[in-house]
Amino acid sequence: MRLTAAILFSLGFVSAQRNITRIIGGKDAQQEAYPFIGLLVNFKSSSFCGASLLSDRWLVTAAHCVNGARPSDIRVTMGTNDFDIDSSRPVDEITIHSQYNTANQSNDIAVIRLSNRVNFKAIKIAKYPYVSDGETLRAIGWGLEKHNATTPASKLQEVDLTTISRDRCRKSFSSFQGNGVGAQICTGDTPGKDTCSGDSGGPLMRKADNGWLLVGVTSFGAWDNSIQLEATCGVEEVVGVYTNVMKYVSFISTATGLNRSIFT
Ligand SMILES: *[C@@H]1O[C@H](CO)[C@@H](O)[C@H](O)[C@H]1NC(C)=O
Ligand SMILES: *[C@@H]1O[C@H](CO)[C@@H](O)[C@H](O)[C@H]1NC(C)=O
Ligand SMILES: *[C@@H]1O[C@H](CO)[C@@H](O)[C@H](O)[C@H]1NC(C)=O
Ligand SMILES: *[C@@H]1O[C@H](CO)[C@@H](O)[C@H](O)[C@H]1NC(C)=O
Repeated sequence: MRLTAAILFSLGFVSAQRNITRIIGGKDAQQEAYPFIGLLVNFKSSSFCGASLLSDRWLVTAAHCVNGARPSDIRVTMGTNDFDIDSSRPVDEITIHSQYNTANQSNDIAVIRLSNRVNFKAIKIAKYPYVSDGETLRAIGWGLEKHNATTPASKLQEVDLTTISRDRCRKSFSSFQGNGVGAQICTGDTPGKDTCSGDSGGPLMRKADNGWLLVGVTSFGAWDNSIQLEATCGVEEVVGVYTNVMKYVSFISTATGLNRSIFT
């Protein structure tokens, strides 16, 4: 099994090291469709990620997107679908989950606080921590769009993905506990549709009557490393792994000081 969080999903402005495909099969998101999306840039590692707004100041992202960074290394752009870092905003606090494990990327979740309040609509975390196998969930991000891309998507992309069973996921990610059972969610079996470098930290969402609910944070791609791959995103052999945000409501509440009724 190979985990590729940092390399696979938060690869930066620098060139792609691997044959990487994209938020394959994605399309441009409608302007205003995802007002809670933040483009997170980490100037220390020259990489970018997604993040989701939970209140007027706090965003949730992946731990690996901000690991080792100080707040002054991180900036977030809100309110545009364009890959725009000129209008980015400063951050004054970062809290990474205390059990975040860099070796296997468990508890890959962190919250960051913007220095100033914003007036964008936040996303609510789904209340019930259960994801079924075969459920369709949507991911969005500015991650790489072609396997040999060296620049991010210029417009926010959206793609619908499908969760897969524990047994199916384990062929690529052997310690997967099951959707909704453990603290991770696994998608796959949609060759040509995937998240990729730069999509990390962004939301995996469930359609609700009136918009979207947050269920996951894009974490990493995993595959059986006895297989020779031509690409590490958007291919059948690679599964997508997401942190199950619904399992981390207490962490978020404690780290942000927000009453959970604000973001659930
Ligand atoms: C990238 O893919 C091409 C074929 O599409 C292959 O020839 C090449 O070896 C691959 N490179 C890497 C680094 O996997
Ligand atoms: C990227 O890869 C595709 C297909 O493998 C190829 O057609 C295209 O020329 C490549 N682009 C660059 C800039 O290398
Ligand atoms: C990751 O590693 C930690 C520490 O060794 C272990 O407790 C945990 O079960 C592992 N998680 C996964 C999903 O492999
Ligand atoms: C959180 O908000 C709910 C609903 O407004 C309230 O009943 C509860 O006491 C609050 N909890 C804390 C710890 O402040």
